[in-house]
Order: sequence, then C-alpha cells, then structure tokens
Amino acid sequence: MPHTIVIFGASGDLTSRKLVPALYNLKRNGLLPADTRIVGFSRTPMTDDEWRATLRESTAKHAEGAPLDDASWGDFAKTIHYQPGDIGRSEDFQGLADRLHRLEGAAETTRVYYLATAPQFYEPVVAALGSHGMAVETNGPRRIVVEKPFGTDLATARTLNEHLHSVFNERQVFRIDHYLGKESVQNILALRFANTIFEPVWNRRYIDHVQITVAEEVAVGRRGSYYDNAGVLRDMFQNHLLQLLMVTAMEAPVRFNASAVRNEKVKVLEAIRPLDLSEVAGAGVRGQYRGYLDEPGVPPTSQTATFGAIRLEVDNWRWQGVPFYLRSGKVMSCRTTQIVIAFRQPPLELFADGKHKSVREGNRLVIQIQPAEGIQLHFHTKVPGGGMKLRLTDLEFSYSRQFMGRLPEAYEPLLLDVMTGDASLFARADEVEKSWEIIDPFIRAWSSVDMPPIDPYIAGEWGPMASVEWMAAQGRTWFDTCPVLS
Ligand code: BG6
Repeated sequence: MPHTIVIFGASGDLTSRKLVPALYNLKRNGLLPADTRIVGFSRTPMTDDEWRATLRESTAKHAEGAPLDDASWGDFAKTIHYQPGDIGRSEDFQGLADRLHRLEGAAETTRVYYLATAPQFYEPVVAALGSHGMAVETNGPRRIVVEKPFGTDLATARTLNEHLHSVFNERQVFRIDHYLGKESVQNILALRFANTIFEPVWNRRYIDHVQITVAEEVAVGRRGSYYDNAGVLRDMFQNHLLQLLMVTAMEAPVRFNASAVRNEKVKVLEAIRPLDLSEVAGAGVRGQYRGYLDEPGVPPTSQTATFGAIRLEVDNWRWQGVPFYLRSGKVMSCRTTQIVIAFRQPPLELFADGKHKSVREGNRLVIQIQPAEGIQLHFHTKVPGGGMKLRLTDLEFSYSRQFMGRLPEAYEPLLLDVMTGDASLFARADEVEKSWEIIDPFIRAWSSVDMPPIDPYIAGEWGPMASVEWMAAQGRTWFDTCPVLS
C-alpha cells in the first residue's frame, strides 16, 4: 500500500534537522517503503521545487552517514511535495485535502500526519483534520504523530489526549519520544529479555540502586524562552528519563507487541511511590548553570532548573527498597547517557582491610546509550604478584566494534514503525498521563516561592555540590565518569 507522510510545520527546525534527513537516509538505504510520498504544509509561500531546494541544503548538513549524493537525492526529491497554507483557515485545509486526493488518486493509502509544529497548533490541526474528515479510515489507515512536549503538566496532557481522542482512536495516535528510537535503548530489552543470565540478579536481592544519567554538554542556546518555561523536569524527566527507567525496570512482556510492552511499562509507573509536596523537597536536588541568566530569552531572575536529580522508589516485588536516581543537566562535564546498575556489596568485605582498595567500586553494569553505545561490566580482579591487591577491571561490548557501519538515527526506525503501524516504541495516553503525575509534584515544589534560591553550578561540572552531598547523605556516590566507551 502506498504511504503519504503529511508534515505540519514543514518549514520548521524539526522537519529540516530530523525528519527529512531521517526519511532521506531510509530511502538511500532502501528501507523506505516504495511509493512513499512526503507532503509539507506550512504558511511560508513556496513551490514544490523551492521546498526541495531548501531541504536539499539542510539534509546535506544534517543527514548522518555518507555525504548526500545527487542520484539518491534526485530519486528522493521526486517524492516531496509542498502545500502552502494556514492551519487556522478552513479553505487552506480543504486545499490540502484536495491536494492529497490528487496525489493519491483512488488508491488505498496509509496516511501519517506528523505534528512538527509548535505545540499550540496541535489542537487546531487535530480539530481541522476532524472537521475535514481526514481521520476517517475508509481509504486506508490514518495515523497521527505527536511530538513532545505532550502538555506541560497532567491537566494539559489530559486535555490534549481528550482532543486527540475526539478525532482519532488511541490506536491511530503515535506519541513520539526519540529516546525509544535509540538502538541502545532498544538493546536494553534484548539484553534483559533475550538472555537469561541477567534476570536472576535483576532485582532487589542483588541490586543496591540504579542511576540513570543524561548529561549534556550543550547550553540552552537559542531556546532560552522555551527552556525557561520548561526547565529540566519537563524537558528531560517527564519523557526521556522516565522512558529509560521504564525499560530498565519493567517485567518481561508476555509477547513482543505494542500492547503487551506498553502494559508492562505503565505498570512500572503505577508502582512508583507517589510523593506529596513535603516529601518532594528531600527527594531531589536542582541546580542552574552559571551563565544561564545571560542566555537570550531568559529572565534575569529566573529560578529555572537546568540540572535536576531525583530519587524514585518503585514499590513492587522486584524493586522494593531499590532507589532509582534520575539525573540530567545542561553544560555538564561531558555528553553521556548511561544507566548504571549498582549491585549490592558482597556480604563480607574480605579484601577491604585498609591497605587495599575496598570492593565498593566494582559490581557495576554500565549501559551506555550515547555518544558511543555499548555495555561495560565492572568487577575486581587480583593484581598478579604477592599479596591480595585488587584492581577494577571490565568486560566490554561496543556496538561500533561489533557491528560495522553507522547506527540509524533515532527517527529512522520510529518513522518506519509509524508507517507499518507498530506502536511498541510510542507512549500510550495513560503512560504519558502517569508520567506527568510523577513529575508534577517536583515541578510544583521546585517552582514554589518557598524554595531556597537555586544552587548554581559551574559549567563543565556534574551539577551543584548539593547533588554530591545529597548522594553522600544516602551513603552512595554518583558514577561521574565521562563516556565509559569511546
Ligand atoms: C530534547 C530536549 O527532547 O532532547 C533537548 O528538548 C535535549 O533539550 C535533547 O537537548 C537531547 O536529545 P539527545 O538525543 O541529543 O540526547
């Protein structure tokens, strides 16, 4: 069946930096289903050829992998069309509907509507698709992809879900979180559920705690006014970090399909202990990098957190008593996303006699999501020679060494999944609402006027000192190591 991908917000950043480069790579690698066309819709007046020329330039800049070549671009460009129009004008929407009919003819076609606009346009687009009968599936499937931010809190996420459901069925809705498209995030599922060696130790009997860190080197840059309203909790925690927590903590699904996988993920969120406002203050640390207040679009007195660390407890049989520490920040020491499974200490510290290093440092499985992807298992071995001297060593699996060629960009597999209708790696309505329910109390507490002034941190560090002290007070230390794999 042919496919049409309709991109709303066609002249925006997401389209030129991520979506079109991903579609181009799929096409170049022979993965894009034959007979796929792309139709862009936005206000900028442009012809098909003008849009193609703009996209050629941006794709040359942003497509990963081999440099853009004329032959494959030429092939791809033929599938690109542009329809200028204003989301708020019914006649422009009708113009889009007519154009799609002309392009598709009578053929049954899978249509994907991609919301790559600013979030305030999500509801008007959905309403217009409804009133023009464009969600009806009489001539092939109709699906809608919704980008983050999915609301700004529980109440707005619920309202957005209601709007979507007034026009689309839940099975037509694909809420995208690009972290789930990353190879090494999907590999957590393979690691856990395609092997039996990890399962026996993947629980409270053997694991002391879990650290999930998404450290970024970049500052907020030109996104100051968006970021200042969002802060790190909305920008990273409600979506990416909770997704990483879910895939780390979930039970094995009975089948590898969308409904079974998502049921298990939602159960993790349901098991997270709810915190009231008085508990939230002690369950996290916030910080702001020095220099943030000088970023364009940021008010000079802003108390917005650019760094956050929180502690969540998953109250189920597997995880009771095992804290999950989630941490993310801008302008940190380096760019690394890693999940550290810190195992319990041996019951007797035979070798920690003061002369030799304690074994505390070992017993760790590090799953590195980016920049390099792979896994490292840290353990102690005896240094050859006299005496019982120990040294930390590791076993390592690196994607790039094991598999030749580049790993696909996160948007590539996700776009393919939408086209084939596989929603396993997309957030369900209840999943998004549950995530907000968990993060909302932190947002409320951190934006309360009763909070002490936010802790500053120096660019290039691992957040404020308060974060180190907070961990130390719980008898633990952060695993502050720049990518373990290169
Ligand atoms: C986005 C956030 O969702 O994820 C950005 O809005 C952040 O602030 C980005 O920089 C991080 O994504 P990645 O794939 O570079 O880790």
